[in-house]
Amino acid sequence: MKTTKICCIGAGYVGGPTMAVIAQKCPNIKVTVVDINESRINAWNDADLNKLPVFEPGLDSIVKEARGRNLFFSTDVDTAIDEADMIFISVNTPTKTYGKGKGMAADLKYIELCARQIAKVAKENKIVVEKSTLPVRTASAIKNILDHTGNGVKFQILSNPEFLAEGTAVQDLLKPDRVLIGGDTSEEGEQAIKALVDIYANWVPKDKILTTNVWSSELSKLTANAFLAQRVSSINAMSVICEKTGADIKEVSKAIGMDSRIGPKFLKASVGFGGSCFQKDILNLVYIAKSYGLNEVADYWEQVILMNDHQKNRFSDNIVRTLYNTVSGKKIAFLGWAFKKDTNDTRESAAIKVADNLLNEQAHVAVYDPKVKEEQIYADMDYLNSRHSVENRALLKVNSDPYEVCKDAHAIAVLTEWDEFNTYDWQNIYENMQKPAFVFDGRGLLNHKELEEIGFIYYKIGRGT
Ligand code: NAD
Ligand code: UGA
Repeated sequence: MKTTKICCIGAGYVGGPTMAVIAQKCPNIKVTVVDINESRINAWNDADLNKLPVFEPGLDSIVKEARGRNLFFSTDVDTAIDEADMIFISVNTPTKTYGKGKGMAADLKYIELCARQIAKVAKENKIVVEKSTLPVRTASAIKNILDHTGNGVKFQILSNPEFLAEGTAVQDLLKPDRVLIGGDTSEEGEQAIKALVDIYANWVPKDKILTTNVWSSELSKLTANAFLAQRVSSINAMSVICEKTGADIKEVSKAIGMDSRIGPKFLKASVGFGGSCFQKDILNLVYIAKSYGLNEVADYWEQVILMNDHQKNRFSDNIVRTLYNTVSGKKIAFLGWAFKKDTNDTRESAAIKVADNLLNEQAHVAVYDPKVKEEQIYADMDYLNSRHSVENRALLKVNSDPYEVCKDAHAIAVLTEWDEFNTYDWQNIYENMQKPAFVFDGRGLLNHKELEEIGFIYYKIGRGT
Protein backbone atom coordinates (compact mmCIF):
# COMPACT_ATOMS: atom_id res chain seq x y z
CA MET A 1 0.00 0.00 0.00
CA LYS A 2 1.73 3.19 -1.13
CA THR A 3 0.39 6.45 0.18
CA THR A 4 0.15 9.20 -2.42
CA LYS A 5 -2.32 11.58 -0.84
CA ILE A 6 -2.69 12.58 2.79
CA CYS A 7 -5.41 14.71 4.33
CA CYS A 8 -5.05 16.19 7.80
CA ILE A 9 -8.17 17.51 9.51
CA GLY A 10 -7.16 20.33 11.89
CA ALA A 11 -4.63 23.01 10.98
CA GLY A 12 -3.59 23.91 14.51
CA TYR A 13 -0.37 23.71 16.52
CA VAL A 14 -0.05 20.01 15.73
CA GLY A 15 -1.64 19.61 12.30
CA GLY A 16 0.22 22.55 10.69
CA PRO A 17 3.82 21.80 11.74
CA THR A 18 3.44 17.99 11.56
CA MET A 19 2.11 18.05 8.02
CA ALA A 20 4.63 20.69 6.91
CA VAL A 21 7.43 18.33 7.96
CA ILE A 22 5.81 15.27 6.32
CA ALA A 23 5.39 17.29 3.11
CA GLN A 24 8.99 18.48 3.23
CA LYS A 25 10.35 14.98 3.77
CA CYS A 26 7.99 13.20 1.35
CA PRO A 27 7.87 15.40 -1.78
CA ASN A 28 5.99 12.68 -3.68
CA ILE A 29 3.03 12.71 -1.31
CA LYS A 30 0.38 15.40 -1.69
CA VAL A 31 -0.46 16.68 1.79
CA THR A 32 -3.61 18.77 2.27
CA VAL A 33 -4.33 20.30 5.66
CA VAL A 34 -7.97 21.29 6.13
CA ASP A 35 -9.79 23.25 8.78
CA ILE A 36 -13.21 24.77 9.27
CA ASN A 37 -11.58 27.92 10.59
CA GLU A 38 -11.25 30.01 7.46
CA SER A 39 -9.07 32.73 8.92
CA ARG A 40 -6.60 30.12 10.15
CA ILE A 41 -6.38 28.59 6.69
CA ASN A 42 -5.95 32.05 5.16
CA ALA A 43 -3.10 32.71 7.57
CA TRP A 44 -1.41 29.41 6.60
CA ASN A 45 -1.68 30.55 2.98
CA ASP A 46 -0.47 34.11 3.62
CA ALA A 47 2.39 35.17 1.36
CA ASP A 48 3.92 36.90 4.39
CA LEU A 49 5.43 34.01 6.36
CA ASN A 50 5.44 36.16 9.51
CA LYS A 51 1.66 35.81 9.49
CA LEU A 52 1.54 32.01 9.81
CA PRO A 53 -0.93 31.24 12.62
CA VAL A 54 1.63 29.21 14.56
CA PHE A 55 4.98 30.66 15.50
CA GLU A 56 7.67 27.99 15.71
CA PRO A 57 11.38 28.53 15.06
CA GLY A 58 12.25 27.10 11.61
CA LEU A 59 8.65 26.49 10.53
CA ASP A 60 8.51 29.37 8.06
CA SER A 61 11.30 28.00 5.87
CA ILE A 62 9.74 24.53 5.76
CA VAL A 63 6.36 25.97 4.78
CA LYS A 64 8.08 28.13 2.19
CA GLU A 65 9.77 25.09 0.65
CA ALA A 66 6.74 22.77 0.52
CA ARG A 67 3.69 25.04 0.22
CA GLY A 68 2.23 25.01 -3.28
CA ARG A 69 4.52 22.07 -4.22
CA ASN A 70 2.96 19.23 -2.25
CA LEU A 71 1.64 21.04 0.84
CA PHE A 72 -1.76 22.70 0.65
CA PHE A 73 -4.03 24.40 3.17
CA SER A 74 -7.74 24.46 2.44
CA THR A 75 -11.23 24.77 3.89
CA ASP A 76 -12.56 22.22 1.42
CA VAL A 77 -12.68 19.33 3.88
CA ASP A 78 -14.78 16.98 1.75
CA THR A 79 -12.53 17.07 -1.34
CA ALA A 80 -9.41 16.46 0.75
CA ILE A 81 -11.06 13.49 2.52
CA ASP A 82 -12.30 12.07 -0.78
CA GLU A 83 -8.87 12.24 -2.43
CA ALA A 84 -6.76 10.92 0.44
CA ASP A 85 -5.52 7.37 1.10
CA MET A 86 -4.63 8.34 4.62
CA ILE A 87 -6.48 10.83 6.85
CA PHE A 88 -4.95 12.26 10.02
CA ILE A 89 -7.34 13.61 12.64
CA SER A 90 -5.61 16.44 14.43
CA VAL A 91 -8.48 18.42 15.89
CA ASN A 92 -8.67 19.79 19.42
CA THR A 93 -9.79 17.58 22.29
CA PRO A 94 -10.38 20.07 25.11
CA THR A 95 -11.68 19.32 28.58
CA LYS A 96 -15.48 19.05 28.59
CA THR A 97 -17.20 22.18 29.86
CA TYR A 98 -20.69 20.68 30.18
CA GLY A 99 -22.60 17.53 31.08
CA LYS A 100 -21.18 14.28 32.38
CA GLY A 101 -17.47 14.49 33.04
CA LYS A 102 -17.58 18.33 32.98
CA GLY A 103 -14.20 19.79 33.94
CA MET A 104 -12.42 16.44 33.54
CA ALA A 105 -13.25 14.21 30.59
CA ALA A 106 -11.98 15.00 27.10
CA ASP A 107 -14.63 16.52 24.86
CA LEU A 108 -14.65 14.22 21.84
CA LYS A 109 -17.32 16.03 19.85
CA TYR A 110 -14.82 17.36 17.28
CA ILE A 111 -13.35 13.87 16.85
CA GLU A 112 -16.78 12.38 16.34
CA LEU A 113 -17.69 15.08 13.80
CA CYS A 114 -14.56 14.19 11.84
CA ALA A 115 -15.40 10.49 11.92
CA ARG A 116 -18.93 11.20 10.70
CA GLN A 117 -17.66 13.45 7.92
CA ILE A 118 -15.16 10.82 6.77
CA ALA A 119 -17.93 8.20 6.86
CA LYS A 120 -20.15 10.45 4.76
CA VAL A 121 -17.59 11.39 2.13
CA ALA A 122 -15.32 8.34 1.68
CA LYS A 123 -15.96 6.18 -1.38
CA GLU A 124 -12.75 4.12 -1.20
CA ASN A 125 -10.91 2.31 1.61
CA LYS A 126 -8.91 4.60 3.86
CA ILE A 127 -6.51 4.60 6.77
CA VAL A 128 -7.60 6.95 9.55
CA VAL A 129 -4.86 8.09 11.90
CA GLU A 130 -5.57 9.50 15.36
CA LYS A 131 -3.04 12.29 15.79
CA SER A 132 -4.99 14.11 18.48
CA THR A 133 -4.48 13.01 22.09
CA LEU A 134 -7.38 10.76 23.00
CA PRO A 135 -8.65 8.73 25.91
CA VAL A 136 -7.68 5.09 25.72
CA ARG A 137 -10.20 3.11 23.62
CA THR A 138 -11.38 6.07 21.52
CA ALA A 139 -10.36 4.21 18.36
CA SER A 140 -13.18 1.76 18.93
CA ALA A 141 -15.73 4.60 18.94
CA ILE A 142 -14.28 6.00 15.72
CA LYS A 143 -14.32 2.55 14.15
CA ASN A 144 -17.88 2.04 15.21
CA ILE A 145 -19.00 5.16 13.37
CA LEU A 146 -16.93 4.35 10.29
CA ASP A 147 -18.04 0.72 10.10
CA HIS A 148 -21.71 1.59 9.95
CA THR A 149 -21.80 3.62 6.76
CA GLY A 150 -23.33 0.74 4.80
CA ASN A 151 -21.41 1.67 1.64
CA GLY A 152 -18.81 -1.10 1.83
CA VAL A 153 -15.84 1.22 2.40
CA LYS A 154 -13.26 -0.32 4.78
CA PHE A 155 -11.29 1.67 7.30
CA GLN A 156 -8.22 0.93 9.36
CA ILE A 157 -7.74 3.04 12.48
CA LEU A 158 -4.23 3.79 13.69
CA SER A 159 -3.13 5.67 16.77
CA ASN A 160 -0.11 7.90 16.14
CA PRO A 161 0.09 10.34 19.05
CA GLU A 162 2.23 13.42 18.70
CA PHE A 163 4.99 14.13 21.20
CA LEU A 164 6.24 17.50 19.92
CA ALA A 165 6.60 20.34 22.39
CA GLU A 166 5.75 23.86 21.33
CA GLY A 167 8.71 26.15 20.76
CA THR A 168 10.79 23.19 19.60
CA ALA A 169 8.18 21.59 17.34
CA VAL A 170 10.28 21.58 14.18
CA GLN A 171 13.31 19.99 15.83
CA ASP A 172 11.09 17.49 17.66
CA LEU A 173 9.47 16.51 14.37
CA LEU A 174 12.72 16.28 12.45
CA LYS A 175 14.50 14.27 15.15
CA PRO A 176 11.85 12.60 17.30
CA ASP A 177 12.89 10.48 20.29
CA ARG A 178 10.42 7.97 18.92
CA VAL A 179 7.41 7.72 16.66
CA LEU A 180 4.63 5.61 18.12
CA ILE A 181 2.15 3.78 15.90
CA GLY A 182 -0.62 1.64 17.33
CA GLY A 183 -2.74 -0.55 15.10
CA ASP A 184 -4.85 -3.60 14.74
CA THR A 185 -3.10 -6.97 14.83
CA SER A 186 -5.04 -8.30 11.81
CA GLU A 187 -3.34 -8.56 8.41
CA GLU A 188 -5.10 -5.39 7.20
CA GLY A 189 -4.07 -3.68 10.42
CA GLU A 190 -0.46 -4.60 9.87
CA GLN A 191 -0.57 -3.33 6.30
CA ALA A 192 -1.93 -0.03 7.55
CA ILE A 193 0.81 0.20 10.17
CA LYS A 194 3.40 -0.48 7.48
CA ALA A 195 1.97 2.29 5.27
CA LEU A 196 2.47 4.80 8.08
CA VAL A 197 5.89 3.41 9.05
CA ASP A 198 6.98 3.87 5.42
CA ILE A 199 6.12 7.55 5.58
CA TYR A 200 8.13 8.23 8.74
CA ALA A 201 10.99 6.02 7.52
CA ASN A 202 11.76 8.74 4.97
CA TRP A 203 13.60 10.61 7.73
CA VAL A 204 13.24 8.76 11.06
CA PRO A 205 15.60 5.82 11.79
CA LYS A 206 13.64 2.55 11.82
CA ASP A 207 14.69 1.70 15.39
CA LYS A 208 12.91 4.83 16.58
CA ILE A 209 9.59 3.82 15.03
CA LEU A 210 7.73 1.82 17.62
CA THR A 211 4.63 -0.21 16.79
CA THR A 212 2.15 -1.40 19.42
CA ASN A 213 -1.50 -2.25 19.76
CA VAL A 214 -3.91 0.69 19.59
CA TRP A 215 -4.71 0.83 23.30
CA SER A 216 -1.06 0.89 24.38
CA SER A 217 -0.40 3.69 21.94
CA GLU A 218 -3.35 5.79 23.11
CA LEU A 219 -2.47 5.26 26.77
CA SER A 220 1.27 5.90 26.25
CA LYS A 221 0.50 9.44 25.15
CA LEU A 222 -1.50 10.26 28.30
CA THR A 223 1.16 8.54 30.40
CA ALA A 224 4.02 10.54 28.85
CA ASN A 225 2.29 13.86 29.53
CA ALA A 226 1.34 12.79 33.05
CA PHE A 227 4.95 11.85 33.85
CA LEU A 228 6.32 15.09 32.40
CA ALA A 229 3.84 17.24 34.28
CA GLN A 230 4.46 15.28 37.45
CA ARG A 231 8.17 16.07 37.19
CA VAL A 232 7.40 19.79 37.01
CA SER A 233 5.01 19.60 39.96
CA SER A 234 7.57 17.58 41.92
CA ILE A 235 10.34 20.11 41.38
CA ASN A 236 7.91 22.95 42.10
CA ALA A 237 6.94 21.26 45.37
CA MET A 238 10.63 21.16 46.26
CA SER A 239 11.00 24.84 45.27
CA VAL A 240 8.67 25.79 48.15
CA ILE A 241 10.84 23.87 50.60
CA CYS A 242 13.94 25.56 49.17
CA GLU A 243 12.47 28.98 49.80
CA LYS A 244 11.77 28.09 53.43
CA THR A 245 15.13 26.49 54.13
CA GLY A 246 17.72 28.55 52.26
CA ALA A 247 18.36 25.87 49.66
CA ASP A 248 18.40 26.81 45.96
CA ILE A 249 16.25 24.75 43.58
CA LYS A 250 18.72 25.27 40.71
CA GLU A 251 21.43 23.60 42.75
CA VAL A 252 19.08 20.83 43.90
CA SER A 253 17.93 20.20 40.30
CA LYS A 254 21.51 19.97 39.10
CA ALA A 255 22.47 17.61 41.91
CA ILE A 256 19.59 15.20 41.37
CA GLY A 257 19.69 15.51 37.57
CA MET A 258 23.22 14.10 37.52
CA ASP A 259 21.81 10.82 38.78
CA SER A 260 21.42 8.97 35.48
CA ARG A 261 18.26 7.32 36.79
CA ILE A 262 16.64 10.75 37.23
CA GLY A 263 18.24 12.66 34.32
CA PRO A 264 18.66 16.44 33.95
CA LYS A 265 15.67 17.40 31.78
CA PHE A 266 12.36 18.85 32.91
CA LEU A 267 13.61 19.86 36.34
CA LYS A 268 13.17 23.63 36.05
CA ALA A 269 11.12 25.14 38.83
CA SER A 270 8.63 27.63 37.50
CA VAL A 271 5.54 29.67 38.25
CA GLY A 272 3.61 26.58 37.14
CA PHE A 273 3.25 24.61 33.98
CA GLY A 274 0.86 25.80 31.30
CA GLY A 275 0.06 24.77 27.77
CA SER A 276 -3.00 23.24 26.26
CA CYS A 277 -2.24 19.65 27.16
CA PHE A 278 -0.71 18.80 30.55
CA GLN A 279 -3.72 19.80 32.62
CA LYS A 280 -6.29 18.52 30.12
CA ASP A 281 -4.55 15.18 29.69
CA ILE A 282 -4.09 14.57 33.41
CA LEU A 283 -7.71 15.49 34.10
CA ASN A 284 -8.64 13.03 31.41
CA LEU A 285 -6.49 10.36 33.05
CA VAL A 286 -8.10 11.12 36.41
CA TYR A 287 -11.51 10.75 34.79
CA ILE A 288 -10.59 7.44 33.19
CA ALA A 289 -9.24 6.11 36.51
CA LYS A 290 -12.41 7.20 38.31
CA SER A 291 -14.60 5.64 35.67
CA TYR A 292 -12.94 2.29 36.46
CA GLY A 293 -13.40 2.93 40.21
CA LEU A 294 -9.64 3.44 40.68
CA ASN A 295 -10.02 6.31 43.13
CA GLU A 296 -6.54 6.09 44.66
CA VAL A 297 -4.98 6.23 41.19
CA ALA A 298 -7.18 9.21 40.32
CA ASP A 299 -6.20 11.04 43.53
CA TYR A 300 -2.52 10.41 42.89
CA TRP A 301 -2.57 12.09 39.47
CA GLU A 302 -4.95 14.86 40.52
CA GLN A 303 -2.36 16.00 43.03
CA VAL A 304 -0.10 17.05 40.12
CA ILE A 305 -2.74 19.60 39.10
CA LEU A 306 -3.42 20.76 42.66
CA MET A 307 0.31 21.40 43.18
CA ASN A 308 0.41 23.35 39.93
CA ASP A 309 -2.54 25.52 40.98
CA HIS A 310 -0.81 26.13 44.30
CA GLN A 311 2.39 27.22 42.56
CA LYS A 312 0.56 29.85 40.50
CA ASN A 313 -1.42 31.14 43.47
CA ARG A 314 1.52 31.32 45.82
CA PHE A 315 3.45 33.37 43.23
CA SER A 316 0.79 36.07 43.18
CA ASP A 317 0.27 35.81 46.96
CA ASN A 318 3.97 36.43 47.43
CA ILE A 319 3.82 39.56 45.28
CA VAL A 320 0.94 40.96 47.34
CA ARG A 321 2.55 40.05 50.67
CA THR A 322 5.96 41.47 49.71
CA LEU A 323 4.45 44.72 48.44
CA TYR A 324 3.33 45.44 52.01
CA ASN A 325 0.10 43.45 51.74
CA THR A 326 -1.51 45.64 49.14
CA VAL A 327 -1.15 46.05 45.40
CA SER A 328 -4.27 48.15 45.02
CA GLY A 329 -3.52 50.88 42.46
CA LYS A 330 0.08 49.69 42.10
CA LYS A 331 1.56 48.95 38.69
CA ILE A 332 2.89 45.44 38.23
CA ALA A 333 4.82 44.84 34.99
CA PHE A 334 4.56 41.40 33.39
CA LEU A 335 7.42 40.24 31.23
CA GLY A 336 5.99 37.39 29.21
CA TRP A 337 2.51 36.01 28.69
CA ALA A 338 3.09 32.85 26.58
CA PHE A 339 3.10 29.56 28.49
CA LYS A 340 6.76 29.05 27.58
CA LYS A 341 9.36 30.77 25.42
CA ASP A 342 9.49 30.58 21.62
CA THR A 343 5.76 30.15 21.15
CA ASN A 344 2.83 32.54 20.72
CA ASP A 345 0.55 30.04 22.45
CA THR A 346 -1.02 31.22 25.71
CA ARG A 347 -3.37 28.35 26.51
CA GLU A 348 -3.39 27.68 30.29
CA SER A 349 -0.41 30.00 30.70
CA ALA A 350 0.42 30.65 34.35
CA ALA A 351 0.46 34.38 33.51
CA ILE A 352 -3.32 34.35 33.09
CA LYS A 353 -4.01 33.07 36.60
CA VAL A 354 -1.38 35.32 38.17
CA ALA A 355 -2.87 38.35 36.39
CA ASP A 356 -6.38 37.39 37.46
CA ASN A 357 -5.32 37.09 41.09
CA LEU A 358 -3.58 40.46 40.98
CA LEU A 359 -6.55 42.19 39.30
CA ASN A 360 -8.72 40.81 42.09
CA GLU A 361 -6.42 42.77 44.40
CA GLN A 362 -7.00 45.88 42.25
CA ALA A 363 -3.47 45.96 40.87
CA HIS A 364 -2.75 47.61 37.53
CA VAL A 365 -1.04 45.07 35.33
CA ALA A 366 1.04 46.03 32.28
CA VAL A 367 2.07 43.25 29.93
CA TYR A 368 4.83 42.81 27.38
CA ASP A 369 5.33 39.61 25.39
CA PRO A 370 7.43 39.48 22.22
CA LYS A 371 5.05 37.15 20.35
CA VAL A 372 1.59 37.32 21.90
CA LYS A 373 -0.90 39.76 20.44
CA GLU A 374 -2.87 42.22 22.56
CA GLU A 375 -6.25 40.80 21.52
CA GLN A 376 -5.15 37.33 22.64
CA ILE A 377 -4.24 38.62 26.10
CA TYR A 378 -7.65 40.25 26.51
CA ALA A 379 -9.36 37.14 25.14
CA ASP A 380 -7.53 35.06 27.78
CA MET A 381 -8.67 37.37 30.56
CA ASP A 382 -12.25 37.64 29.32
CA TYR A 383 -12.49 33.85 29.01
CA LEU A 384 -12.10 33.55 32.79
CA ASN A 385 -15.28 35.53 33.30
CA SER A 386 -13.87 36.97 36.53
CA ARG A 387 -14.96 40.52 35.71
CA HIS A 388 -16.43 42.59 32.91
CA SER A 389 -14.25 42.90 29.82
CA VAL A 390 -14.35 46.70 30.19
CA GLU A 391 -12.73 46.31 33.59
CA ASN A 392 -10.09 43.93 32.21
CA ARG A 393 -9.17 46.59 29.65
CA ALA A 394 -9.10 49.32 32.29
CA LEU A 395 -6.89 47.41 34.74
CA LEU A 396 -4.65 45.52 32.32
CA LYS A 397 -2.66 47.26 29.58
CA VAL A 398 -0.54 45.72 26.86
CA ASN A 399 2.47 47.44 25.37
CA SER A 400 4.96 46.40 22.69
CA ASP A 401 7.81 48.23 24.44
CA PRO A 402 9.15 46.40 27.51
CA TYR A 403 10.73 49.59 28.88
CA GLU A 404 7.36 51.36 28.79
CA VAL A 405 5.77 48.38 30.54
CA CYS A 406 8.32 48.56 33.37
CA LYS A 407 8.22 52.37 33.66
CA ASP A 408 6.84 53.54 37.01
CA ALA A 409 6.11 49.95 38.03
CA HIS A 410 6.33 48.90 41.67
CA ALA A 411 7.31 45.41 40.68
CA ILE A 412 8.23 43.31 37.68
CA ALA A 413 7.03 39.73 37.36
CA VAL A 414 8.80 37.41 34.92
CA LEU A 415 6.21 34.93 33.67
CA THR A 416 7.88 33.48 30.54
CA GLU A 417 11.53 32.60 30.06
CA TRP A 418 12.11 34.60 26.84
CA ASP A 419 15.88 34.89 26.27
CA GLU A 420 15.62 38.58 25.37
CA PHE A 421 14.76 39.53 28.96
CA ASN A 422 18.37 38.86 29.90
CA THR A 423 19.62 41.34 27.31
CA TYR A 424 17.71 44.34 28.68
CA ASP A 425 19.34 47.42 30.14
CA TRP A 426 18.34 46.64 33.73
CA GLN A 427 20.03 49.75 35.12
CA ASN A 428 17.79 51.86 32.93
CA ILE A 429 14.71 49.86 33.95
CA TYR A 430 15.61 50.29 37.64
CA GLU A 431 15.99 54.04 37.35
CA ASN A 432 12.51 54.39 35.87
CA MET A 433 10.69 52.29 38.48
CA GLN A 434 9.09 53.11 41.82
CA LYS A 435 11.37 52.36 44.78
CA PRO A 436 11.92 49.96 46.35
CA ALA A 437 11.96 48.19 42.97
CA PHE A 438 11.00 44.52 43.13
CA VAL A 439 11.54 41.72 40.65
CA PHE A 440 9.63 38.44 41.04
CA ASP A 441 11.30 35.98 38.73
CA GLY A 442 8.89 33.11 38.13
CA ARG A 443 11.34 31.37 35.81
CA GLY A 444 14.65 31.73 37.64
CA LEU A 445 15.82 33.44 34.46
CA LEU A 446 17.58 36.66 35.37
CA ASN A 447 21.06 37.24 36.75
CA HIS A 448 20.32 37.82 40.43
CA LYS A 449 23.81 39.18 41.28
CA GLU A 450 23.56 41.85 38.58
CA LEU A 451 20.04 42.81 39.61
CA GLU A 452 20.82 42.98 43.31
CA GLU A 453 23.92 45.08 42.63
CA ILE A 454 21.79 47.55 40.69
CA GLY A 455 19.48 47.82 43.71
CA PHE A 456 16.52 45.59 42.90
CA ILE A 457 14.92 43.48 45.59
CA TYR A 458 14.98 40.22 43.73
CA TYR A 459 12.81 37.19 44.45
CA LYS A 460 13.49 34.03 42.49
CA ILE A 461 11.25 31.00 42.53
CA GLY A 462 12.92 28.28 44.60
CA ARG A 463 15.72 30.35 46.11
CA GLY A 464 15.74 30.74 49.84
CA THR A 465 17.22 33.78 51.50
P1 NAD B 1 -5.62 23.51 17.91
O1 NAD B 1 -6.80 23.99 18.64
O2 NAD B 1 -4.44 24.41 17.70
O3 NAD B 1 -6.06 23.00 16.45
C1 NAD B 1 -7.16 22.21 16.21
C2 NAD B 1 -7.83 22.68 14.91
O4 NAD B 1 -8.85 21.74 14.55
C3 NAD B 1 -8.53 24.03 15.01
O5 NAD B 1 -7.95 24.92 14.06
C4 NAD B 1 -10.00 23.73 14.69
O6 NAD B 1 -10.64 24.75 13.95
C5 NAD B 1 -9.89 22.46 13.89
N1 NAD B 1 -11.12 21.66 13.87
C6 NAD B 1 -11.90 21.28 14.92
N2 NAD B 1 -12.91 20.52 14.49
C7 NAD B 1 -12.80 20.43 13.14
C8 NAD B 1 -13.56 19.77 12.14
N3 NAD B 1 -14.65 19.05 12.44
N4 NAD B 1 -13.16 19.89 10.85
C9 NAD B 1 -12.06 20.60 10.53
N5 NAD B 1 -11.29 21.25 11.45
C10 NAD B 1 -11.66 21.16 12.74
O7 NAD B 1 -5.16 22.17 18.65
P2 NAD B 1 -3.69 21.55 18.72
O8 NAD B 1 -2.89 22.24 19.75
O9 NAD B 1 -3.16 21.43 17.34
O10 NAD B 1 -4.02 20.11 19.32
C11 NAD B 1 -4.67 19.13 18.53
C12 NAD B 1 -4.58 17.79 19.24
O11 NAD B 1 -3.19 17.41 19.36
C13 NAD B 1 -5.12 17.77 20.66
O12 NAD B 1 -5.72 16.52 20.90
C14 NAD B 1 -3.88 17.91 21.52
O13 NAD B 1 -4.05 17.30 22.78
C15 NAD B 1 -2.85 17.16 20.72
N6 NAD B 1 -1.46 17.60 20.93
C16 NAD B 1 -1.15 18.92 21.00
C17 NAD B 1 0.18 19.31 21.14
C18 NAD B 1 0.57 20.75 21.21
O14 NAD B 1 1.73 21.02 21.45
N7 NAD B 1 -0.32 21.70 21.02
C19 NAD B 1 1.20 18.35 21.17
C20 NAD B 1 0.83 17.00 21.08
C21 NAD B 1 -0.50 16.63 20.95
C1 UGA C 1 4.21 19.00 26.24
C2 UGA C 1 5.12 17.78 26.11
O1 UGA C 1 6.47 18.18 26.43
C3 UGA C 1 5.09 17.23 24.69
O2 UGA C 1 5.87 16.04 24.61
C4 UGA C 1 3.64 16.91 24.31
O3 UGA C 1 3.57 16.47 22.97
C5 UGA C 1 2.79 18.16 24.48
O4 UGA C 1 2.89 18.65 25.85
C6 UGA C 1 1.33 17.92 24.24
O5 UGA C 1 0.86 16.81 24.30
O6 UGA C 1 0.71 18.95 23.99
P1 UGA C 1 4.36 21.58 25.61
O7 UGA C 1 3.19 21.72 26.51
O8 UGA C 1 4.28 22.17 24.26
O9 UGA C 1 4.71 20.02 25.39
O10 UGA C 1 5.65 22.20 26.30
P2 UGA C 1 6.60 21.70 27.48
O11 UGA C 1 7.99 22.01 27.10
O12 UGA C 1 6.33 20.33 27.90
O13 UGA C 1 6.21 22.70 28.66
C7 UGA C 1 4.97 22.61 29.32
C8 UGA C 1 4.94 23.56 30.49
O14 UGA C 1 5.80 23.09 31.54
C9 UGA C 1 5.43 24.97 30.16
O15 UGA C 1 4.64 25.92 30.81
C10 UGA C 1 6.84 24.99 30.69
O16 UGA C 1 7.28 26.26 31.01
C11 UGA C 1 6.70 24.11 31.93
N1 UGA C 1 7.98 23.49 32.34
C12 UGA C 1 8.60 22.59 31.53
C13 UGA C 1 8.51 23.82 33.57
O17 UGA C 1 7.94 24.63 34.32
N2 UGA C 1 9.69 23.24 33.95
C14 UGA C 1 10.35 22.35 33.17
O18 UGA C 1 11.42 21.86 33.59
C15 UGA C 1 9.78 22.01 31.93
